[in-house]
Amino acid sequence: YTADDPFINAMIEKVKSQLKTMETTDMNVIVSVRSGDNDQREQDEIVDEMIDAGCDVLCVNLVDRTAPANIIKSARQSDIPVIFFNREPVRDDLMQWEKLYYVGCDAKESGDMQGEIAANYIKKHSEVDRNGDGKIQYVLLEGEAGHQDAISRTDCSVKTIMDKGVDLEKLSYQFADWNRAQAENRVSQLIDQYGSEIELILSNNDEMALGAVEAYKNASYRQTERPIIFGIDGLTDALEAVEHGTMQGTVYNDKEDQARMIALLTVALFQGSDIEGYGLEDDIYYMSQYRKVDADNVDTFLGK
Ligand code: BGC
Ligand code: CA
Repeated sequence: YTADDPFINAMIEKVKSQLKTMETTDMNVIVSVRSGDNDQREQDEIVDEMIDAGCDVLCVNLVDRTAPANIIKSARQSDIPVIFFNREPVRDDLMQWEKLYYVGCDAKESGDMQGEIAANYIKKHSEVDRNGDGKIQYVLLEGEAGHQDAISRTDCSVKTIMDKGVDLEKLSYQFADWNRAQAENRVSQLIDQYGSEIELILSNNDEMALGAVEAYKNASYRQTERPIIFGIDGLTDALEAVEHGTMQGTVYNDKEDQARMIALLTVALFQGSDIEGYGLEDDIYYMSQYRKVDADNVDTFLGK
């Protein structure tokens, strides 16, 4: 969907290296990666070009997950299987043809897990409630409007924290498009507005969480004056932030596992071999498991 997303770029690198390991004397794998530049029409055109160029399998992260129709139509006409990943098309779209697949995660799980680590942290550290009013004043950084991960993470994270008996008070929800620089901007404005009132920042992904960390650094807040900050993805920068205590937790979005399945499916679909053993749900879906990361177990993730 874009060439500027660190999580997606890291996952694509993993897909490439997985596919490389699957080459044989009879089968080379040639991977071409193209960016849709955040424009669904452009992505549709690129897909047509790739089909014309003779590709055998398409792996697509849609720009607009509600608009896979053109891609499905073109792929079907040329009998080229499509593995959608990351942005989940609705089930009806995936049912249109038997050679459509989806590799991703259950977004709800990541929101629940973020809520659990945050609630757990808050219960163990009474100093999080800096003004001592018995409530946790919080800010939420949202990914992109309409992305299934952003919607579910926001809902489930907040709900889980409240279910665990923590009293929350919402100060602000800000969209920052999964993006570190945008989040840094938004949070800098919030610091101007709320000063040290913000006690907790929940972010739909790590990049935005790291943008929040930057904003506090720029505003010269010491660690004890900052809110606790939680992300999702488990990218290296964020794991290091958890290790250094500038972030308190994240949720590992298993790009290795998703890449492994994208590569396995790609080769199997090319060879026309059986995919029964891959455990796809309804013969369409592969959902990777998220894992909770906090200061207690971050080392095992950094050792990956
Ligand atoms: C990731 C984000 C990423 C987004 C892109 C999400 O699953 O957590 O980091 O920006 O996908 O679509
Ligand atoms: Ca408070």
